[in-house]
Order: sequence, then structure tokens, then C-alpha cells
Amino acid sequence: MSTDTQAVWKPAGSLSKDMIDQRVSVRGWAATQRDHGGLVFVDLRDRSGIVQLVFDPERSGKEVHSAAHRIRSETVLRAEGTVRKRSEETINPKIPTGEVEIVVEKLEILATSKPLPFEIEDEVSAGEEVRLRFRYLDLRRPVMFRRLAQRHQICRAVRSALDDAGFIEVETPMLMRSTPEGARDYLVPSRVQPGRFFALPQSPQLIKQILMVGGIERYYQIVKCFRDEDLRADRQPEFTQIDIEMSFIEEEDLFAVCERMLRAAFAAGGIEITVPFPRIPYAEAIEKYGTDKPDLRFALEIVPITRLAAESGFKVFREVVDAGGLVAGLRIPGGSQAMSRKDIDDLTAFANRHGAKGMAYFHAKEGRLTSNIAKYFEDGLLERIREAFGAEEGDLVVFVADRPKIAYPALAALRNRIAKDRGLVRDEQAFCWIVDFPLLEWDEESGRFAAMHHPFTSPHPDDLERLESDPGSIRARAYDCVLNGNEIGGGSIRIHTPDLQCRMFRILGIDDEEAREKFGFLLDALSYGAPPHGGIAFGLDRIVMLITGGNSLRDVIAFPKTQNASCPLTRAPGRVSREQLEELHLISTALDDDAPEATE
Ligand code: AMO
Repeated sequence: MSTDTQAVWKPAGSLSKDMIDQRVSVRGWAATQRDHGGLVFVDLRDRSGIVQLVFDPERSGKEVHSAAHRIRSETVLRAEGTVRKRSEETINPKIPTGEVEIVVEKLEILATSKPLPFEIEDEVSAGEEVRLRFRYLDLRRPVMFRRLAQRHQICRAVRSALDDAGFIEVETPMLMRSTPEGARDYLVPSRVQPGRFFALPQSPQLIKQILMVGGIERYYQIVKCFRDEDLRADRQPEFTQIDIEMSFIEEEDLFAVCERMLRAAFAAGGIEITVPFPRIPYAEAIEKYGTDKPDLRFALEIVPITRLAAESGFKVFREVVDAGGLVAGLRIPGGSQAMSRKDIDDLTAFANRHGAKGMAYFHAKEGRLTSNIAKYFEDGLLERIREAFGAEEGDLVVFVADRPKIAYPALAALRNRIAKDRGLVRDEQAFCWIVDFPLLEWDEESGRFAAMHHPFTSPHPDDLERLESDPGSIRARAYDCVLNGNEIGGGSIRIHTPDLQCRMFRILGIDDEEAREKFGFLLDALSYGAPPHGGIAFGLDRIVMLITGGNSLRDVIAFPKTQNASCPLTRAPGRVSREQLEELHLISTALDDDAPEATE
């Protein structure tokens, strides 16, 4: 029988002064063991926190006291004893239980641990590869538990907000046909049908649309998606979406639902957010911030001076203007005073790394703009440039001149960097909706238009006439949700008639035959009375990362993949046996000397 029956079990982190003299039991891991002559102290950790155990030869008994000497880092134990107040000089104000300790009278050692590859502390110095290999130890770090628990609370809040709005969660298949979301598919070979493959869903996009045709009206799902793409800190091959689809709606209906949901999710993380979010047309976002993912925690807008630059004698600017390019810049408040020549050189190198060929600049000094290129500008022109930027004494103005495709991303990167360096980033959650995306973008490689979002996005009805004649000018009914410079969600109002869907496929270079072969099931569904519908998917991992202050998605996923898309814990992907490959028709069953050796 458990010793817990004789004493009340308490989470380690819950012990307090109110429990003095009570008999309690605790269980967990020994974080530290200190032998102070007669007394042995153990910090016992469970997921709720830490409490100090004391083994005192007089009160604990000889046997228990001597067993305490066998406790090592991460020994699993159960202890029973009496709570007492710590003496004044041993109070530890750093932990919530720091005023009390448990004098142990019974001890059970439940498991022992090998020496650890790294210390289990919030501030861990071990490399990520080691932490992921021993993820079970890494997860014992209190910060990791807190993040996972917060993720759980955020999911609960999301579910509850969507339930309140009449949504139902529906599971969709993991073994699917490929959905074009722009990444490579993870494929699963069919054993039953030789030579055929399932694709793991890059998203449930088509299936959720079919749920709308099926009359579900309001669907959501917290769902895994799989994309075989090159990884960055904000991307994982296997990630989770909050996937949403609604029928009979316009953009604003969806925005309202999402804003309520996000408010609940952030509240679960202890963060209050302001709704509604500003709506910014794509073209305006690019012009002002250089990107469709603007960080609005600081102003620092891009100022175009292409026309003014055309009046200058500065060759670099003139050439760009003559080639139809863009000259634009940013005002760095106080930059002239605060930044050294080296700082400016560093910033130039940074702009170069982000594609710019160079970075021109002016100091605002003694009421005018000065620099090594000022001689190419007449005084009146310099004054008009100063006015365009609203540059004040001590400011620095920096410029990039190039094709818009190059200049805007460089300016966007500069904008973020300057705000960070100059401490301009406000401590707030700055959301926005980016709307009116272009429907298509020109793909230089394939020499044709590609869908900017995906091929199921509805064109703007006012632009429909030009769909074939001027595809590049068509606006989409697509939107992204952006938070502090991160794209946290994206979606669209969909095409809901088969005719328009076929027109769209043709523009993308998918002829009717290929459309039927790949998307026949969607076209069929759309021809049986599909309701107007639209939806969105949010990146749950990104949202949790932003709420919990993690640095990468790996901080908020229990078992993430590394940069090279593998799992150091299970060593996936692994090799499989020759028999498995044969069964899946991936190698021939005939004796074949050239077949790859597949067994580990
Ligand atoms: P999209 O491809 O924009 O849209 O994805 C939606 C959101 O998912 C997150 N996300 C990712 N998070 C982590 N790792 C990744 N590799 C990754 N890729 C995307 C982003 C992104 O905003 N079916 C459409 C949605 C719709 O139209 O309803 C879709 O999947 O936060």
C-alpha cells in the first residue's frame, strides 16, 4: 500500500506557511542533494515547483537518514514528513515554497538516474542537438513544462471561443491526395495499390472546403500539417494549424470571429490585446513598410523620393530612376548624433546582405542635409528631401535605390534593424490584417503566373473582367494576420463555382484535363450547390511562441525536428527493412543485385 495514504499528497510547489505542522507526502525528482554534516538537504522537484526536504538523523531516523545519502541528481523518490518553518537565515525568497521545508520521516527511492548529460535548469548551456536527443530531460526543465502547459491553455481557449461561435471540430484525413500549398509533399506509398502514393496533408484546404459543400457551415480543427520545405526558426516540417472554414460569410465576419478567438488565446497567456485590428491593403503595406509582414510596434515608415531623386545629379539615383526603379529611405531619429561612422558602415553591410547594392545617407545638421553625396543635390532639392522625411536636427536619413523587388525587402530589413538598434520597438502586441493581396505573382523560373495564396482563392469580383486580359492586376479576396512582423495566419474567401475554378486553373497553366485528374473531386463537389465560403489557418506553434516568448518553434513543440528535418530522440527518419520496401513495391522482389541495401 502507498505511504501516501497516511499523509496528504501535496504538489511540491504548493507547500506554504499555512501547512506548518501538517503531515504531507511529496514525490518527484531530486534536483540537488547537499550534505551539511549531520543534516542532508534535498531540493525535490515536480512539475509544480520545488520544495526543500531535510533529513535530520534525530527526527528522520537512522535508516531514512542513511538512505538520503544515496540520493543523487534526478533520483525519483517519495517522501513523507512534517512541514516546518525554515529558520530565518535559511529562508529562500527566490522560490514560492522558500519559507518552509519538510522534515522527512519516510523515504522511498522509486528510481535512480544515470549521470546527466546536462544540468536540468532553466538557463541551459547544452547545445540543442543534445537537448533534443535527451528531450525527456529537457522537458523536466520548469520553463519547458510552463510552455507546454501554456500551449494547452491556449488550445483550450481557442476551442472554447470557437465552440461559443458555433464551430464544430471535425477531423480530416492524414492520408490524402496532395494539396498545393507551395511546399514539397511527404509521400506515403500504398501497399495495396502498387506505384500509388498518399500525401500527408500540407493543410486540410480542399477537405475543409468540401466540408462546407457538405453543409457543416462552421468547421475548425487543431491539426497537424506536413511540409517538406527548407527549415528556419519559424518553420517546422510538421506543424500545427488552427484551421477554420465558414459558409455564407464575407471577410469581416471571419475577421470578427478570429479577433475574438485570438483575444481569448492571448488572455490565456496573460496578455490583453486590442481588437479590432487595423486592416492594411497589401500595396500600402509594401509602400510604407516594404513587406506584407510589417512590424507595427514602431512607426518608421518608408519615404519614397523617386521623383526628387530624378532631379539630382547623383548618377546612382538617376540610373535607377531612369530604369523605372525606386529611390526611398528611412529617417533614423537622432541617428546622426548617436551613430558612428562604423555604425553606418555596419548598417550599409547589413543592407547589402539583404540585397541592396549600397546605402546612401544624409545627416540632418545645422538645419540642412549634409553628406559626401550632398554636392550632387541643389540646396532647394535638399530642403525638399528634408521636408519629405520630416528630418530634424541630429537625424540620419538612409536610402536604398533599386528595382522595387530588391529595394523594398532591403528597406523592410533595415526598418526592423534600425528600430531594434535604436530601441524604438514598443512593448505591445501589434496585430493587423493585410488585405487585397494580388491574386497572382509572376514566377520568373517557370515563366508564368502562380497563385500568391493558393489556386482556390476567389478573385475580387470587381476585377473579374480582366482575369484573362490582365491577370497580374487582379486583387484576391485573401488576407493574412500579422503580429509584430510575423505572419501568424492566412486565408481567403474561396472560389465556389466550378466554372470560375476552371478559369483560375487555366490561368495557372493547368488545362481542363489536368484539372480533372488532380482536382476532379473538388470540381464535382462545387457543381452540387456549394455555399459561398471562406476560411483561414493560423500557425498555432507561432502563436504559442509569441505568447510564451520562446525564441524558436522548437521551444514550444514537445518533440520538434532539427534544422535537417530529423528527430535526434528517435533518430527518425530511419532505415527500413528490405522486406518493407518490397512490400511497398519500392524495390523489386526479384533477386536484384543493384537494389539498395535497406536494412540497418
Ligand atoms: P498557409 O500556408 O498560409 O495557409 O499556412 C497558414 C499558417 O500556418 C503557419 N505555417 C507554418 N508554421 C510552422 N511551420 C511551417 N512550416 C509553416 N507553414 C505555415 C503560418 C501560416 O500563416 N490552407 C491555407 C489556409 C487557408 O487558406 O485557409 C494554409 O495552409 O503561421
